[in-house]
Amino acid sequence: MAAELESPKLALVMVGLPARGKTYITTKIVRYLSWLGYRTRSFNVGSYRRARGLVKMPAEFFDPRAREAVRVRTELALEALEDLLEWLRGEGEVALYDATNHERARREQVLSRCQAEGVRVIFVESLCEDAGVIEANVRDTKLHSPDYAGMDPDEAVRDFRARIAYYESSYEPLSELDEAHSFVKLVDVGRKVVVNRVESYVGARLVYFLMNLHAARRRIWLTRHGESQFNVLGRIGGDAWLSARGSEYAKALARFLPSRLEPGEVPVVWTSTLRRTIATASALSFRAHAWRALDEIDAGICDGMTYGEIEEQMPDEFAARRANKLRYRYPRGESYADVIQRLEPVILELERQTRPVLVVAHQAVLRALYVYLTGRPQEECPYASVPLHTVIELRPNAYGYEEHRFELE
Ligand code: F6P
Repeated sequence: MAAELESPKLALVMVGLPARGKTYITTKIVRYLSWLGYRTRSFNVGSYRRARGLVKMPAEFFDPRAREAVRVRTELALEALEDLLEWLRGEGEVALYDATNHERARREQVLSRCQAEGVRVIFVESLCEDAGVIEANVRDTKLHSPDYAGMDPDEAVRDFRARIAYYESSYEPLSELDEAHSFVKLVDVGRKVVVNRVESYVGARLVYFLMNLHAARRRIWLTRHGESQFNVLGRIGGDAWLSARGSEYAKALARFLPSRLEPGEVPVVWTSTLRRTIATASALSFRAHAWRALDEIDAGICDGMTYGEIEEQMPDEFAARRANKLRYRYPRGESYADVIQRLEPVILELERQTRPVLVVAHQAVLRALYVYLTGRPQEECPYASVPLHTVIELRPNAYGYEEHRFELE
């Protein structure tokens, strides 16, 4: 569990028509809460249908008047719900129920099943008033779904629109009738957020996260500072200046960045407050903002030592770190898990930004950001590969991200 006040047993129940970004939001929440250390998992009802072999179903399968299809779809939805509850009875802490849940009766059913198990529920509804966003969502994501594999794109769009219309015919958005329940309503992801009775600690954190979300696509570049004099000596931490090779990297980065920008695009540039990152960003023609939260992992009493010296002088510390690098906290310093917690404001700001962002920071800090952005488990954080003199370009998209690495020497 994340270091905090409560062990939540929480179900986040998505609500909304198809192509309203529910799975996008679900993926983001899973990533964020997992990164913070909550055991979080999503249960997607569409995947249950496909696992049953009900792939490429025509729009009529989603007609609320088609009784047999409704029976099958209800059965699948409840099967997913029971799996979700089973998981929460065990190790699970936060489960996302990714389905349309667009009729009040279904929501009440889900709510009472969860309450019977002592699981709190927050409904998360996604509404889109912007027709362009829906259209883009259909074309960008739904057409890549196994439901439409091999189908002519125009025909697939027609079929998907018909499917949406069937759902619309029985859609009951959250309203005053739901005021007794906890819910968050998102309108055009990021434009407007309505919050009702969200009281728990994790719920409040979640609301704040959702307020920062948007659906715009942009790039994020992660780079360590250029080689420092401490890197040359194999010493950790400190506040050394760049080596000659490191200064060359700063110049190479200043040449590289404009080549990745669209005409007229101005990126946001963040550094830590340490000399080596500030110096690395100094050759750029864009203003950089220095964040203390981006400073390297605090090695406490080991700051300034080499790994060899630590092993020799403090063998127990060295062994303890090797045994659990994620949780090991340097005496009077930090662990990777601590670094993750202190980076939370950076993540929120990263989500909020619609401009491209360049982060010039340090190995441990960038590992933590990288596992968040790529949705890797927290346990991988201390081992993620973030070499010197390499820019990692990430383009987050609806279901994941694209990654390119550029070695600049
Ligand atoms: O060696 C460079 C450095 O940024 C150190 O300042 C820091 O302690 C270390 O990397 C983090 O990497 P690791 O967790 O693998 O020791």
